[in-house]
Amino acid sequence: MKQKENTINRREFLQRLGAGAAVVTAATSIPATARAAIAPQAAEDNAMTYREGPRGDRVSLLGYGCMRWPTLPAKDGGEPELDQETINHLIDYAIEHGVNYFDTAPAYQKGRSETATGIALKRHPRESFYVATKLSNSRPPFTKAAALEMYQASRRRLQVDYIDYYLLHNIGVPRDGETGPQRFDTRFVKNGVLDYLLKEREAGRIRNLGYSVHCDRETFDYVLSLHDKYHWDFVQIQMNYADWKQASRRDNNEAEYMYNELAKRNIPIVIMEPLLGGRLASLNDHLNEQLLAREPERSIASWAFRYCGTFPQILTVLSGMTYMEHLQDNLKSFCPLKPLTEEEIEMLNEIVAE
Ligand SMILES: NC(=O)c1ccc[n+]([C@@H]2O[C@H](COP(=O)([O-])OP(=O)(O)OC[C@H]3O[C@@H](n4cnc5c(N)ncnc54)[C@H](OP(=O)(O)O)[C@@H]3O)[C@@H](O)[C@H]2O)c1
Repeated sequence: MKQKENTINRREFLQRLGAGAAVVTAATSIPATARAAIAPQAAEDNAMTYREGPRGDRVSLLGYGCMRWPTLPAKDGGEPELDQETINHLIDYAIEHGVNYFDTAPAYQKGRSETATGIALKRHPRESFYVATKLSNSRPPFTKAAALEMYQASRRRLQVDYIDYYLLHNIGVPRDGETGPQRFDTRFVKNGVLDYLLKEREAGRIRNLGYSVHCDRETFDYVLSLHDKYHWDFVQIQMNYADWKQASRRDNNEAEYMYNELAKRNIPIVIMEPLLGGRLASLNDHLNEQLLAREPERSIASWAFRYCGTFPQILTVLSGMTYMEHLQDNLKSFCPLKPLTEEEIEMLNEIVAE
């Protein structure tokens, strides 16, 4: 796709898209063995929608956000343990229904998310899933040794030789008298960490290198301007229909701006917080009724997921699903994706205004 063509507004892309066109066909460059392994188990007419990712990856449009794994009741006032049996079951069910992208981080559930995700995924062929984790080095003094230990610990906890999608976590929050761009340089550039990760990418131990964003406009623009130098393989942003025109957090950018800037450079986008952390799972009574009247078989949450999936530059939409009923509901939204029409998008805009 030519760069110029990627800068579009919603009206334009919906016109170009046409019903069903968002369903991207299988990548041709992925090894045949891997392609077979990630093929959905479900019947043809309710099979997962996939998007073509970097390096020929074929990524499920629903991705599993592993930030909210279920826990068991805490013993003796200690930390609650993660419920590994239920996590195994959720991951097995997700994979069986075509989900192949799992996103975690050392910062989630104090490192235990990575461990639990690793245990569950280890029971599946390595080529049947993509695992994403992050360099959550958010505490000074940001030494290279500490960052590399965090990276190696992620591989140990996840029990993998290579990480499919590795992210610089939550880039550039201004702090300690540093601007966002300065903080980014301190955390990742000046200490030599990024150079090290680029070599890891060359060696194949990191297949794709990107970053996740909750930051101001200056930082967003700065890190994106480094694309020519580093070649970001993907970027993870907060996006949902409420955040499209105006970010819900003061330390973030509206999704429309971020989406268009990334699409212009043809960088695949991973979405976090598609439900605004759960807040778009239910609106007020009047709006809930309005949505249910249109699609009685679909949940209120499904509108938010389908909204995100309708944008063609989106690689995968992460949802943090603690309960099986939510996993099952979200599978319905992506197996297959029924893109929203222009009129439906406009209706959601009006809902936001309301
Ligand atoms: N890099 C970063 O800085 C960063 C920041 C935030 C998030 N993330 C990543 O993005 C992922 C997604 O973010 P998120 O978890 O905030 O996403 P989200 O999908 O916006 O919100 C998740 C919440 O929505 C609920 N939910 C999900 N599906 C539902 C459904 N069908 N009906 C009703 N409620 C539903 C979940 O409930 P249950 O838990 O009860 O199922 C959970 O409480 C995270 O898991 C994490 O991996 C990354």
